[in-house]
Amino acid sequence: MDYLQIIGGTKLSGSINISGAKNSALPVIAATILSDKPVTLTNLPNVVDIRTLLKLLTMLGGSVEQNDTVAVVNNGFMNSTKAVYEIVSQMRASILVLGPLLARFGECEVSLPGGCAIGQRPIDMHLKALEAMGAKIEIKGGYVRAEAPNGLHGAKIVFDKITVGGTENTIMAAALAHGVTTIVNAAKEPEIVQLCEMIAGAGVEIEGIGSSKIVIHGTGQKSLTFKEVEIIPDRIEAGTYLCAAAITQSMITLNKVNAEHIQASIDKLEAMGCSFEIEETSITIKPAQKLKFVDLITTEYPGFPTDMQAQFMAVATIAEGESLIEERLFENRFMHVSELNRLGADIWLKGNIAAVRPVKTLYGADVMATDLRASSALVLAGLIANGVTNVHRIYHLDRGYDNLEGKLSALGANITRLHG
Ligand code: EPZ
Repeated sequence: MDYLQIIGGTKLSGSINISGAKNSALPVIAATILSDKPVTLTNLPNVVDIRTLLKLLTMLGGSVEQNDTVAVVNNGFMNSTKAVYEIVSQMRASILVLGPLLARFGECEVSLPGGCAIGQRPIDMHLKALEAMGAKIEIKGGYVRAEAPNGLHGAKIVFDKITVGGTENTIMAAALAHGVTTIVNAAKEPEIVQLCEMIAGAGVEIEGIGSSKIVIHGTGQKSLTFKEVEIIPDRIEAGTYLCAAAITQSMITLNKVNAEHIQASIDKLEAMGCSFEIEETSITIKPAQKLKFVDLITTEYPGFPTDMQAQFMAVATIAEGESLIEERLFENRFMHVSELNRLGADIWLKGNIAAVRPVKTLYGADVMATDLRASSALVLAGLIANGVTNVHRIYHLDRGYDNLEGKLSALGANITRLHG
């Protein structure tokens, strides 16, 4: 299996382009199911999860013509509404086809996504919302079977917890429903805004885009016609590279980025002593003379993102003072801790709080990626560890980072993908 070999100690310099956001491209691709005409998507990231979801569309009878970061998706001739376990088990975000398939075809069968390394990740709120809109939901043999033969109707949906995927599935289902759907306690991530703008661009009236209360005036139509969608920059990829600069005490510039989407990460890096020059679509980070500790509590957007928790923990391992990091969204998102400690970090866990006690140096070792963001944290630690760090099981990394080793090499890192 592939692994990344990193020889630590080199400074970074120069600039890179940030790719399109995986977590925005996924719901946008799922939303194309709502249309029976070709839809052009641009600035797609070259990552496994995107390829997996596009493959699922073709398995359902859709067609995909892709050329690098541009894809034309046509679901006009879809002939199946069964998203099989083989695909959904590879990528749980496949559950995002549930809402659009049900809204467009009146019935579908989607494999239960199952848990993943970072937590159980139930979909109870997705299902409750669709039931409130008139769907008949049955779970049998590991599949969710949903039916709404007369179409869905508008409803008032109040989410007990903020759910990104649940909000996305509900918005997509509501677009074709008969009547108005109000979502209370909706997620506010930039990905949700992009999805709403895509659907509003097809003539669906949506109020409260980007707020915690979204009102969708369902068209009751059979399908929608979408304009071209340019995927927004990946805020988590951008944050990861800012952490790479912070941990190596380097100055780098990120292009094709939206600083507003990563304000929480920028604020925390400033608190650690870094400084920034922010332009319209680029960010230059200047390193701290001496990194200071940081206290983090993960929360929903626009708060500090859980998807940046592991990367900041890597930076905190060599910061002055003890950092406290509290993970509030997922019940098992500290699996990078033991791997970072193998590199010489001094991190202690108490429930969902990690105490990161600073060390002078990390030392290269063989470590194992456990999930997408944990793997990037191990790469960041390898950039400064003395000697050679081999990060194994990087199939986790390939799911969500577009050419990570190529971009880090371009910035001067000594990193190579080897086949072990
Ligand atoms: C999205 O996952 C992201 N994935 C995750 O990024 C991200 O960590 C997460 O949002 C939180 O920001 C994509 O966008 C593809 P949730 P999602 O529904 O939608 C619980 C990455 O690294 N919950 O907002 O699955 C759930 O267990 C990935 O790119 C329920 O209890 O997250 C979690 O504790 C990892 N019932 C919390 O809510 C439900 O029905 C937030 O989950 C749904 C969720």
